[in-house]
Amino acid sequence: MTVSQPKSILLIIGGGVAAYKALLLIRLLKARGVGVRAVVTAGGEQFVTPLSVGALSGEKVFTDLFDLTEEAEMGHIQLSRAADLVVVVPATADLMAKMAGGHADDLATTLLLATDKDVLIAPAMNVRMWDHAATQANLATLTARGVGVVGPDEGDMACGEYGPGRMAEPEAIFDAIMARLEGNGVPRDLAGKRIVVTSGPTHEPIDPVRYIANRSSGKQGNAIAAALAARGAEVVLVSGPVRLNPPAGVTVQGVETAREMLAATMAALPADAVICAAAVADYRVADAADQKLKKADGAGRSLTLVENPDILATVSVLPSGERPRLVVGFAAETQDVIAYASAKRERKGCDWIVANDVSQGVFGGDENRVTVIDDAGAEDWPRMGKDAVAEKLAERIARALA
Ligand code: CTP
Repeated sequence: MTVSQPKSILLIIGGGVAAYKALLLIRLLKARGVGVRAVVTAGGEQFVTPLSVGALSGEKVFTDLFDLTEEAEMGHIQLSRAADLVVVVPATADLMAKMAGGHADDLATTLLLATDKDVLIAPAMNVRMWDHAATQANLATLTARGVGVVGPDEGDMACGEYGPGRMAEPEAIFDAIMARLEGNGVPRDLAGKRIVVTSGPTHEPIDPVRYIANRSSGKQGNAIAAALAARGAEVVLVSGPVRLNPPAGVTVQGVETAREMLAATMAALPADAVICAAAVADYRVADAADQKLKKADGAGRSLTLVENPDILATVSVLPSGERPRLVVGFAAETQDVIAYASAKRERKGCDWIVANDVSQGVFGGDENRVTVIDDAGAEDWPRMGKDAVAEKLAERIARALA
C-alpha cells in the first residue's frame, strides 16, 4: 500500500521500553513515502536517542518546548498542524492521562493540545496500569473525542507480567496510520445522522457475586459502531460488559443488565436508526439475592427466571414520529437460520434482520457469515471479517437513510 498524495505524520515518542518499536515504524513509513517529523519526550529520550530517530526520519527531531530558535522558525502550534496525522508511540499511562486532562507541560503534550489534526495512539504499559480504572476512564475520554487507538496487544511484557498492555507491533500501527491517512476512501454519507447501536452480552445478577451471561464478545457490535462513525454518524454505543477498546469517535454507554440496556437505548433516542447487535439475555433471575447465596448441604437449588424486556421489539413498535426510520436486529441461530430469522423479523417488527449461524465458532471469533433479510428478501454475504461485515452493513444503512 502506498499513499496517493505525499503525506506526513507528527510522531510523538513517549517514555516506555516500547519506544524502540517507534524506530521500526519510522522505517516502514519512510519506505512508503510518508514524511515523519518526530518529537521525543524527556521519558522517550531514556529509551531512544534523538540522533537515531533523526537518522531514520531524515528530519530534525524536536525535544524541547522552549527552543527560541525553533519558536522563531516554526512555533509549536505550527508544528502541531503541519502534519496530516499526529501519532503517539508509545502512549504511556502518563501521556494518556495528560491528554485526557488537557495538560501542556512539555512540547509533546502542548502539541497534542494545540493540534487540529486526527490523533492516533498506541498505548503501552504494565497490565495493571492498563486495567486501572483511571487509565480506562482516560481511554474512554480520548476515544469519545475521536482519538484513534491501536492495541495494546495481550502477551508477555517486558516487566515480566502477562496480559493486555504490550504495544501493538509496528506493522499494525503502520496499517492503522495508513487507514487514517487514506480515510480508507470511506464517504462521510452518514454525517448528521444519529445512530444507536446495542452490543455485547448482558449480565443478569443471581446474587452480588454471580450472574447469568453469554459468550458474546461485542466485536461485531463495536465494529458496526466504528464503521458508522467512520462514515460521519453520531453514534451512541450501548454496550454490555466487554473486554474491548471503545471505538474512536463513539459515545459509549456501559450497561450490565437487559433492563439497563433498554433504559440507555430509550434515553439515546430520538435517532435515525437503531442497530440491535447485543446478545441480550432473554431471562433474568426473578428475585436476585441481596446477599451472597450460601451452599445448602446436599440440596439442589433452582432459580426462577422471568423474561427480560425486548429492546429490539420495543423500539420497533414505537409510534411513528418516535420510531427510528430504520431498526435493525440480529438473529443468532444454530439451525434453520433463514426461516427462524425471517419469523423473528416479523415477530419483532424490525426492518432488517442480520442473521448469522453461530453454531460455527462465530462467538469471540473475528469472522462472520451473515444473511441480511428485509422486505425484498434474503441477501447472502460471503464469510468475511467482522470489520468487513460492519463496513458493508454501514454502507447499506447509509443508502437506506439517504
Ligand atoms: N434482542 C433485544 N432484547 C432482548 C432480546 C433480543 O433487543 N431482550 C434483540 C437482539 O439484540 C437481536 C434480536 O433481538 O437483535 C434477536 O435476538 P435473539 O436472542 O437471537 O432472539 P430472541 O428474540 O431471543 O429469540 P430466540 O432466543 O428464541 O432465538
